[in-house]
Order: sequence, then structure tokens, then C-alpha cells
Amino acid sequence: MNKSFSVPRGTKDILSNECGIWVEWEQKSRNLLSQYGYREIRTPMYEETGLFKRSLGQSSEVVNKQLLELNTNKEEGLALRPEGTAPLVRAYNEHGLVRTESLSKLFYIGPMFRGERPQKGRLRQFHQLGAEAIGLSGHNPLLDAEMIVLAVNLVKLFGINNFKLKINSLGTAEDKHNFAGWLREQLKDNIGGLSEECQQQYEQNVFRLLDSKDKACRTVVDALNIDGQHLSENGRAYFDTVKQALTDMNIEYEVSAQLVRGLDYYTHTVFEISFSGLGAQDAIGAGGRYNGLVEQLGGGDKRVDGEVGAVGFALGIERMLLAAEVDKNYPEHTIDTFVIFQDVAYERKAFEICQTLRHNGISSDMDFGQRGFKPQMKQANKLNAQYVLILGENEFNQQSVAVKNMATGDQELVQWKNVVELLSQKIQETR
Ligand code: HAM
Repeated sequence: MNKSFSVPRGTKDILSNECGIWVEWEQKSRNLLSQYGYREIRTPMYEETGLFKRSLGQSSEVVNKQLLELNTNKEEGLALRPEGTAPLVRAYNEHGLVRTESLSKLFYIGPMFRGERPQKGRLRQFHQLGAEAIGLSGHNPLLDAEMIVLAVNLVKLFGINNFKLKINSLGTAEDKHNFAGWLREQLKDNIGGLSEECQQQYEQNVFRLLDSKDKACRTVVDALNIDGQHLSENGRAYFDTVKQALTDMNIEYEVSAQLVRGLDYYTHTVFEISFSGLGAQDAIGAGGRYNGLVEQLGGGDKRVDGEVGAVGFALGIERMLLAAEVDKNYPEHTIDTFVIFQDVAYERKAFEICQTLRHNGISSDMDFGQRGFKPQMKQANKLNAQYVLILGENEFNQQSVAVKNMATGDQELVQWKNVVELLSQKIQETR
């Protein structure tokens, strides 16, 4: 026997049941995003490696351990995108949007790639829906609140309700710098006893230690008394406005002092939406503010004083599918009609009826295996057909079909010429 192939490690086939839910959610999400004023953008699956190194941080796990680089002979290294924010900012800069729009509200849906050790909810190819608001008028804390509400509503659209929203603030760039200094000071006496990796993180990016999985490190970090002492008056006032806006919109949240996020670009607000039923990989979405990234990636507007403000989030679609599975029953896929023929002699007529129904907006299918009545009926049940149209000798001779309502079991004889009209009416009533 020839060797068979399996899906590559860390990737996943999305079978039709999950796909149906995914597509339906995507459609509803697009409507919601457009209500909030977001427009879609599509960027390539790979970018220059340097883009990710400069934006996410050399010491971030994503760059350090997970970047999937392409083996090309080009001078510039290329890497599959591990996330969507840096590519979007690259495109924002490249197309000079800072000069044409005071605020660009953009969203993207697509695959991302991280060379992680695969486990439940952690894939090497996964999909994100992300939204970003970037522009010179993008500094308003209400925009942070809007982002959080948008993310929460998109999660709810998936049918997930038992999630937790954690928020925190890193403060201004200066506050963040001071916070790093404070952390180093607090940890300096204990760092010698921690692992080499923790010591490296202490030197390169001390925030990494706050979400370290290392046991000894956790003990030291958990003993810290972090309560926003790094926030300046401006930083605190900014965060207060975000929190108040969330409260005014009845959004439940928890302030988590240790939430700093693993990517370097964040300032001010950071947030994470988690679902506890997922085990270790429980974040279904996350985001925050990243003022200064536009300039860091070579953009901005030299004619205008001031930094470009930016805030956004990304939701992990596979993780939401896992959460939806725990949180609710998947809706069943249904089909309006299924046409059954009792003898191969009527197959062509069944085929014709199927086509006519489809052309008139009624979903329809039939069995292509030229099988008997029973297996055809089984197939109709499997597809959750609402109506089964039966074509036997009697029906055929009378130029009719027997239309069976699968929910009630009622059956009636209907002339071919009347089938579309009758079914359109019936299906309209149930939609
Ligand atoms: P992130 O936290 O790295 O943030 O990823 C966002 C979400 O993507 C996670 O909460 C998770 O649901 C999903 N995700 C991440 N890695 C994996 C994986 N290996 N397998 C499955 N799902 C995964 C970002 O990517 C930022 N760009 C978010 C952002 C946008 N910040 C501002 N704007």
C-alpha cells in the first residue's frame, strides 16, 4: 500500500461542521466591524524578518523561539507572519495612511504562524481576527474602551459567554520604563537563584518574568506587590477613563496587575479575554495600545508634531471554536430539501428538480450513489433536510413528487410545476 499523508504537526484541518460555524461567525463579525467603522485589509503571509524583530522585540518568545523563517537565497530574511499588527503597521506606513486619514480603523482575518510546541489550543498555523485603530487622532482612551467592547462583542457573537476580561495599564512610555526599573530593583536580590533563562529575561526584558511559567520564578514574582505604582498622573488618569467607560457600558472586567503581555510594543492599556475551560492555553483574545510603533517602524508624519496613536486586538479563532464547543452546543447544519428517487429511471428528473430548486434559492441535494430508498433517506437525515421530495413510479407518472415534512412527517403530492412555489412559501415561513 502507498504511504498515506497526515496533516503537518501543529496544523489542523477545519472540517465542514466547524467551518460552517466559523463562516457564519465571520459574516456576523464583518457586519459588526463595519458598524464600528472598521474596513478590511489583507497583507501577505510573510514579511521581512526584521519587521517582526523590531516590533515584537528581539527577546520576545515569538521572535526568539517561534519565528518560522523561509529558507530563501534573498539577502533580506523572510518569515511567516506570527501576528497581524506589525504587518498592518508596515502597510499603514508604506501607503502613507497617516497623511490621508486622521484615524484608520482596519481589520484582518487570516492565518498566522508560530513554531511553537503544539498542544491543545496551541498550533503552528492558527487564525486570527484582528482590529486596529491607528492615526494622529488615535490617542483617546475611549478608543481603548471601544476596542475592548468590540472584542467582547465578537466573542459573544461566537456564542461564548463564560469568558473573563482582564485589563491592566503599563502607562506612558516613561511609566513603562520606570515600571521596568522598579521590577528590576524588586527582583535584584532573588534573580541569582533563578534559571539562566530567567536571568536573561531579567537583563533583556524584565516584563517577561511576570508571565514566566518557571516555578521558582513564579514564586518570586507572585510575592511582588504590584499595584500600579509605576503610573504617572497622566497614565493613571488615562486608565481611569478606560475603566469608567467600560463600567458605563456594563462590561465586567478584572484589573490584573501582572498582565503585561508578551510582545514589546505595548503602552497604556493591555487586555486579555480568557476562557477557563481551555486549560493552559486559555487566552482566546488579547490586545492593547501600542503608541510609537508606527514611528519605530519608520512611519509617522514629519509635518505634524506628535506620535501616532494606535490600539488593537486579535482573537484566536481555533481557540474560540474550542471554547464554543465547551460553552454551548454547535448549531446543526441543515439543508432545505433532499430529492430521493425510487428507481434509477427517475434519477435525471430528480437531478433536474434539484437544480431548479437551487436556482430558485432553495438549498437542495440528492444521492449520487444510485442507491436504494433507505440509504437515500439515511443521507437526507444526516444532512438534516427539512423536506424530502420522493420520486417513485406513481409520482413520476403523475408528473409530481411526494413532499415530506421531516419534522411533522406530513406528506403531500405536489405537481412538478408547483414545487418551487410551494416550497418557497413553506421555507419562508420557517426562516
Ligand atoms: P497574541 O496574544 O500573541 O497577540 O495573540 C492573540 C490571540 O491569538 C491569542 O489570545 C490566542 O487566542 C491566539 N493565538 C496566539 N498564538 C496561538 C497559537 N500558537 N495557536 C492558537 N492560537 C494562538 C497578538 O497577536 C497581537 N497582535 C494582538 C494585538 C493586536 N495587539 C494589538 N493589536
